Amino acid sequence: MSSATPVPTPAWRPLIHFTPRQHWINDPNGLVQVGKVYHLFYQHNPQGTEHANMSWGHATSRDLLRWQEHDVALPGREAHAIFSGSAVVDTHNTSGLRQRGDASPPVVALYTGAGHSWQAQYLAYSRDDGETWHFGPDHPVLDEGRADFRDPKVFWHGPSEQWVGAVVYPDERQVALYGSPNLHVWTSLSVFGPAGEAGGIWEVPDLFALPDETGREHWVLKVDVFAGGPQGGTGAQYFVGDFDGAVFTPHGPARWADYGKDFYAAITWSGTPGRCLWTAWQSSWDYATRLPTHPWRGALTLARELGLRRGPDGELWLTQVPLRELENLRDHHLPLHLTPDTPATLPLAPDHAFDLSLSLTPQTVLTVRVTSAAGDELALRADLAHGTLTLERPARGTLAEVPGFGGTHTAPLPLTQGGGLDLRLVLDTSSAELFAGGGLLALSDLYFPEAVPELLHLAVESGEATGQAWTLRGAGGEPGA
Ligand code: FRU
Repeated sequence: MSSATPVPTPAWRPLIHFTPRQHWINDPNGLVQVGKVYHLFYQHNPQGTEHANMSWGHATSRDLLRWQEHDVALPGREAHAIFSGSAVVDTHNTSGLRQRGDASPPVVALYTGAGHSWQAQYLAYSRDDGETWHFGPDHPVLDEGRADFRDPKVFWHGPSEQWVGAVVYPDERQVALYGSPNLHVWTSLSVFGPAGEAGGIWEVPDLFALPDETGREHWVLKVDVFAGGPQGGTGAQYFVGDFDGAVFTPHGPARWADYGKDFYAAITWSGTPGRCLWTAWQSSWDYATRLPTHPWRGALTLARELGLRRGPDGELWLTQVPLRELENLRDHHLPLHLTPDTPATLPLAPDHAFDLSLSLTPQTVLTVRVTSAAGDELALRADLAHGTLTLERPARGTLAEVPGFGGTHTAPLPLTQGGGLDLRLVLDTSSAELFAGGGLLALSDLYFPEAVPELLHLAVESGEATGQAWTLRGAGGEPGA
């Protein structure tokens, strides 16, 4: 690597995805809605574009799209770095952290304090609705003397009237569940795993409830894998099952939450009434430290609405679709009807993202290409005849030197016998997020165009596709909160 000053890359700054103004970001942390404000925290190096000095960066929004960045909420400490974790509103002051005169309940965060050869869970809190933060006691609230033990995800479990925390034993490929009456004292409930993909270490667990189409509640356990993901390398797997307040029991096999290369460390938002959303880091540990953007490095995915539906095998699958607020950014609209005789070429504007929604008849073969003066920047192919979706991202220029970046990412389409398919593509300056089959399939990939993308080419080789395309206004900063 040369030590020359890096050249800024404004053309790769996403328009509708969160990036810090400058420096490194990885996992989203402490995602919590407090009143009307969404608080986003994230693994952040406030001093550089490497994974170092780990701290919780902080940004707020009222629509999950327009973010205002604030001072670092939890700066890395002398004793330990601040690794990933979660936050909750302690409505009933179980923690006793609410003081006389406080206008609202405390917001409490659990994070991993990471030393050189140990990790344990610590508490931090806010007494002003998440705006400013204080470290809790100097001692950890959950410590098992382990070298690797991290990423606490906490939620209130009504039926058993306790806080439940999911924490990972990375080397053991296990998710350990704990219970607490007050967020300070934690006792072991059970341990899940190894299961599903267990070739690489596990990270960032989450456990949450979702209703199926009949309204019956089920539980989803998600955990990330460091190796063996759907495209090799890092990935996110989930299990659907039951949780009785102590033990999670899966009722089906592990599935991939996302078939792209760039979806990791997703956690659900806490305190979002009537909806369940999550946000992930849109990158991969395979090459995150080598991405060529400047002065920032890393981005988050759009928030995705989560649901449960029966997949083609009749089992319950997780569904993900882009947050509904995205519709507020829609600008120009274009109806589309594609047949083998009528392809379409649409202009792309550098200050707009793009939202494409298509409904494909059975057996359709559709290609979508993003092109610039430098050639193909991204090529997508949905082949209903063979049941596959492929996204090809070339790696030219500086990206050619980044191992694992270039390639073709293939996913099985969630097709029912003789059925068609709906497809949604949200395209930003350096991000492609793809959803199919009502969100049964998601695929998230970064891409870094050689030249500014100018055209979107849509064609069907067989079959038919109808739908629409919208340009999306860039979210910019403000109005955050
Ligand atoms: C996942 C992860 C977590 C850890 C954090 C450190 O990407 O490795 O397990 O807490 O990032 O930044």
